[in-house]
Amino acid sequence: MTPPGSPRAPLKPGSTRTPPRARAAKDRTGTFPPEPSEAVRGSLAKGPTRGARRAAQLCDKRPLRLGIIGCGKIAPAYLEVLTRTVPGVVEVVACTDLRPEAARSRAQQFGIPRACTTEELLDDPEIDAVANLTPAPAHHAVNTAVIRAGKHLFSEKPLALTREEGQRILAEAKQREVAVAGAADIFLGPALQRAQAEITAGAIGVPIAAVAVITTDCFDDQHYHDVFRGALLDVGPYHLGAMTYLLGPITRVAASAEIRFAEKPLSVLAKCGSTFRVDQASTTAGVLDFASGAVGTILTTQDAHTWVGRIEIFGTTGALVLPDPVLYGGTLVLRSLSGARRIPMPLPRRFRGDARGFGVLDLAFAVRGGRRPRADGTWMYHVLDASLAHFDSSKEGRHIRIDSTFDLPPQLESALW
Ligand SMILES: NC(=O)c1ccc[n+]([C@@H]2O[C@H](COP(=O)([O-])OP(=O)(O)OC[C@H]3O[C@@H](n4cnc5c(N)ncnc54)[C@H](O)[C@@H]3O)[C@@H](O)[C@H]2O)c1
Repeated sequence: MTPPGSPRAPLKPGSTRTPPRARAAKDRTGTFPPEPSEAVRGSLAKGPTRGARRAAQLCDKRPLRLGIIGCGKIAPAYLEVLTRTVPGVVEVVACTDLRPEAARSRAQQFGIPRACTTEELLDDPEIDAVANLTPAPAHHAVNTAVIRAGKHLFSEKPLALTREEGQRILAEAKQREVAVAGAADIFLGPALQRAQAEITAGAIGVPIAAVAVITTDCFDDQHYHDVFRGALLDVGPYHLGAMTYLLGPITRVAASAEIRFAEKPLSVLAKCGSTFRVDQASTTAGVLDFASGAVGTILTTQDAHTWVGRIEIFGTTGALVLPDPVLYGGTLVLRSLSGARRIPMPLPRRFRGDARGFGVLDLAFAVRGGRRPRADGTWMYHVLDASLAHFDSSKEGRHIRIDSTFDLPPQLESALW
């Protein structure tokens, strides 16, 4: 997703210009407006596109009618939130999967009226938006089909597997006037919202550096490797997503990305003797330059057989240690000259710890309010662009300039949760 727009001018420590974060915090658009917004009225005035008609329908405050494509492992975490924990914002009306029994089973489990084929779901004019919960290799085709059906899109990460595919998705969405949002939307949770508020309030001074580490032990067979495409593309979006949310767009990347073991043992713990083939970098180490003037590093590996997920942001007067950014909630640690302060920001008890779906809720509010979703497609593209730059940099032995950018979304005014 190389979206339109040029990199921001660097904001150096000590600059008197209002930081983007502070500007974003003033722009409060998190509530349902009672009337169609300017943007919706504007798009209605332009002509009867399906996107504009859909936005108009949603101005009556009915729930966003949602279809689900992909009813595998992560689907229950979404459905639990969308149908039970935060009901009424979206109405899940249909679900589909290449495995019809998976769709039927999720429909039964969560009271979804229809389990159907993808074609039937996309042809249904009553469906406003679709959540694509399929694995990465299917994202481009499914995302494109959703947009071509004139429906708003929420996509699991990554948006696509190449820049060209990502750009085409955004271009088609723009042409058809449908919204694109997606994962890793973890910054909509209480932990990263609080982190953003602390940074905006100057709790660590001017942010100057960040470090992120993700090691994962869950890629222990060919299926996982093939469908998730390595640690950087699978779990990297959580870390790059959080870092870009807190520090803004990245302007260049230098990295080493290697296939550490071309043949890996199938389940180290089981010691069963067979192996699987690895054709995507399994360990990456990147250096990131942010437009704000901050620098960062990010290490991802699926070769370490342990789980570590952490991010630390360093400022001129303190540091912020974030909880594992694969989760919406957790405890922040704020270090300053006066000592360390723990700031617990758990999800409310009614949520499961591995909850998903806040980005879908925000998409519903965005469509209804005529604004862009916070976890929008240009940000997803930027994360993909910066991820792919790791592979390019390693291959070419040089820094890769990141041409894509995104506008920092405003802080949530009221909790989605
Ligand atoms: N498993 C997790 O913990 C987790 C967590 C967060 C995000 N995710 C993301 O969610 C997505 C799905 O992950 P998962 O773990 O649920 O995978 P999964 O393999 O368990 O489920 C994916 C489902 O999609 C179906 N599918 C594949 N291609 C399809 C197509 N073209 N049309 C319709 N259905 C199709 C499969 O049959 C399968 O049931 C991935 O992008 C992943 O990165 C997964």
